[in-house]
Amino acid sequence: MIQLYHVYKKYPEDITALSDITFKVEKGDFAFLTGPSGAGKTTLLRLLFFEEKPTSGQILIDGRNLTKLPKSRIPYFRRNIGFIFQDFKLIAEWTVYDNISFVLEVLGVAKKEIRKRVIRVLGMVGLQNKIAKKIQTLSGGEQQRVAIARAIVKEPKILLADEPTGNLDPDMACEIMELFYEINVRGTTVIVATHNMALIKRYGGRLISLKYGRLAA
Ligand SMILES: Nc1ncnc2c1ncn2[C@@H]1O[C@H](COP(=O)(O)OP(=O)(O)OP(=O)(O)O)[C@@H](O)[C@H]1O
Ligand SMILES: [Mg+2]
Repeated sequence: MIQLYHVYKKYPEDITALSDITFKVEKGDFAFLTGPSGAGKTTLLRLLFFEEKPTSGQILIDGRNLTKLPKSRIPYFRRNIGFIFQDFKLIAEWTVYDNISFVLEVLGVAKKEIRKRVIRVLGMVGLQNKIAKKIQTLSGGEQQRVAIARAIVKEPKILLADEPTGNLDPDMACEIMELFYEINVRGTTVIVATHNMALIKRYGGRLISLKYGRLAA
């Protein structure tokens, strides 16, 4: 369902963030994207979310060629993808509720249903009691969990998570990983970028390993 063919991503001043990346992730897979800092993990996820275009090569999602997707189709295409950003990208002055409900409002979900779903996902990440708090009053780990809730509330077909446990203590990291597995079992394809090898060893799954922008394994 996700296919990359000879994908390159170059930035100005001769930085090659990704070099000749070819791999496939099947529908319903659980995959880890790993590699040291600067290896290209975030860059790769951003290409899959259509935040950037590859310099060359092809990316297909569900058979659709992303390199040929017109800009106007991007919001529609993103409906099916949940993205947990490494730096969260939450709106600091908004409440937890507003940060999450916003996603469903854009999709035209009814008010009552929105409330039900936001409460449910906040329960899943253990933040029911923070629903009316502003983001700027939360700890780093709590903000990370809001970012996770926001990504899963629309029940996406694909979940892309960029270092989603970076700010969590080991117990909370395990709970979040369990949550990803539950979501995966229900049919969502999950790709988790992390350099936390302990997490990978513990949970297994498919491993896509990057080094200096190249596939290492
Ligand atoms: N917008 C950009 N402009 C120029 N260079 C960039 C840009 N984004 C990323 N890079 C470079 O591309 C390379 C890969 O970066 P990327 O953020 O994908 O690494 P990463 O594997 O996610 O690292 P980390 O584990 O630290 O998050 C790095 O050398 C980085 O400096
Ligand atoms: Mg990164």
